[in-house]
Amino acid sequence: KSVGILISGRGSNMMALVEAASDAYEVVVVASDNPAAPGLAWAREHGIPTFALSPKGIGKAAYEAAVTGALREAGAEIVALAGYMRLLSDEFVATWRGRVVNIHPSLLPKYKGLDTHQRAIDAGDLEAGCSVHIVTEELDAGELLGQTTVPIEPGDDAETLAARVLAEEHRLYPRVLADFAAR
Ligand code: GRF
Repeated sequence: KSVGILISGRGSNMMALVEAASDAYEVVVVASDNPAAPGLAWAREHGIPTFALSPKGIGKAAYEAAVTGALREAGAEIVALAGYMRLLSDEFVATWRGRVVNIHPSLLPKYKGLDTHQRAIDAGDLEAGCSVHIVTEELDAGELLGQTTVPIEPGDDAETLAARVLAEEHRLYPRVLADFAAR
């Protein structure tokens, strides 16, 4: 299946998805709401078509319509969010119903939204992790497709925990996306 990836920044999960692409899926476009996203340059260097557009000035509806246009033009059948920092509108979710997946750095349903690692540490949790799920209108609440758990070590701060979780994100996301594409 053909996958379009949406990023906002660094793009390390996008890179992991690109590097693990196989018969199960191929990455046909990387799109960003942030024309300066470092991940875009990496994708270009790796020969992947990119699309960059800021919603600033044109508004969310026009911006998302353009993103959908770029995804369709590239032939994307699945949309994978990878560090995409904007909420998608209900309309975008409806257009791509059941075909948008996201990776989230917590053991959902715990810690939806931002600042997941600090919240897990502050709660005294012994474990953290990452989840891949289907995107619905409700933030970080769609069907869970896969999850990896890591320990929270004594002395962890949000940064050390984030690094441990991120390494697992890079293993989990390609595996789950390949399974999802085969559905
Ligand atoms: C990841 O931790 C992802 O789970 C979260 O934001 C971070 C993005 O990192 N949504 P990257 O851009 O994939 O490097």
